[in-house]
Amino acid sequence: MKQGQGILFTFDKALIGERQLAAAGKRLLPELKAMRAATKKGYEDDRASINLPFDTSMVRQVKALAAEHRDTDLLVVVGIGGSNLGAMAVQEALLGRLHNETGRPRVYYADTVDERKMRDIALLLDDALRRKGRVLVNAVSKSGSTTETVANLEVLLATLKKYDVTSTSVVVTTDENSPLWKLAAKSGFATLAIPKRVGGRYSVFSPAGLFPLAVLGVDVEELLAGAATMRERCLSDDIMNNPAAIAAIIQYLHYKGGRNIAELFLFATDVESVGKWWRQLLAESCGKEFDRSGKRRIWAGITPTVSIGSTDLHSVAQLALGGPQDKLTTFVTVGEKLETRVPDLKEYESLVPNLQGKSLKEIMDAILQGAMIAYGQGKRPYCHIELPSCSAYCLGQFLQLEMMETMLLASLLDVNPFDQPGVESYKAETRRMLATRRR
Ligand code: PA5
Repeated sequence: MKQGQGILFTFDKALIGERQLAAAGKRLLPELKAMRAATKKGYEDDRASINLPFDTSMVRQVKALAAEHRDTDLLVVVGIGGSNLGAMAVQEALLGRLHNETGRPRVYYADTVDERKMRDIALLLDDALRRKGRVLVNAVSKSGSTTETVANLEVLLATLKKYDVTSTSVVVTTDENSPLWKLAAKSGFATLAIPKRVGGRYSVFSPAGLFPLAVLGVDVEELLAGAATMRERCLSDDIMNNPAAIAAIIQYLHYKGGRNIAELFLFATDVESVGKWWRQLLAESCGKEFDRSGKRRIWAGITPTVSIGSTDLHSVAQLALGGPQDKLTTFVTVGEKLETRVPDLKEYESLVPNLQGKSLKEIMDAILQGAMIAYGQGKRPYCHIELPSCSAYCLGQFLQLEMMETMLLASLLDVNPFDQPGVESYKAETRRMLATRRR
């Protein structure tokens, strides 16, 4: 485990009253107790995902199967929502959004039944097979019965069949009791289990996220080590030193004060998909019609938005600084080692003074500081999460922090963060619509 790589969470204490903070902290204690109890229950609790980073036998199994696919040239992850956003987020953050231009294996995400996208992915698969490349299709679905995932898997299987490589080129990641598990076993596909009571948006540290990441060469043990360290920090009753608790309280108090939009402002392009992963986590976990008892209609929820710095300072910042006082912003920064410098060209000095010879990092830091000052002047509340580096260890901490913060926020909002009745209703309606359409 790497030392001195703890991520930092800071916020402006002046924006929250001490009494309110203490009261909300007290309300979190039962949920923190339940989380600590869940650490002793394996996968027998809805909060089971917090135990994934400690499951060494799962990691061994994932790594062993990934090693069998070490020579893969092209990987297609077939899944949607929680079943692919985690892998995509970590892959892009660690390997870069331009990974397919520079690295191997290339990876594509078949996440919706978009005709054009799926045709392109099938063509890429076909092309790789024609050139005698090694391909791998990893179908991921907790339920094993999601329309988009099953349709896309079938489309890609048709290509694999043409080259007679189906049984060696498919890995199915699903719940052991799902219909897909049974079908995979019958078809001779390798299988990995998503542990019981680990739901889609909490599954990034399960084989759903870990297997494709291991195939891509990500150090999954470092990722889990970061998550494990953060879990311990976030189980503490010492609220002021528990980043998940304090972040949840700040979000909740601002929500109660009329700020129902959470903006994640990520100052690094490669972590944009981490933003998408977080957006799903917050929206699907906390957007609920009924309270936790299921009896009281409360229409709770905080709308997540994702922005990229500094790019989106030139798009949404005007709204954030001049529009309604309805947002809490969290700036996320990632320590960078790269030292690209603007050349020292005297004739350019008059265009932007004091720019010549500065590193891009110095310029980005100045932009961030400038944005924070402007937010402060406009009484726009913000928090700041600093990742010392874009490493698997730091990213593991961040993902774990966000998942535990969401569980705590849900308990303050009095909603169940582990179900998604709205999503299930669209899935059922889709199946019903399909039944009415004849071929
Ligand atoms: O978080 C969730 O539970 C959902 O977003 C699911 O991940 C998504 O609907 C896909 O479901 P499944 O993994 O069952 O295919």
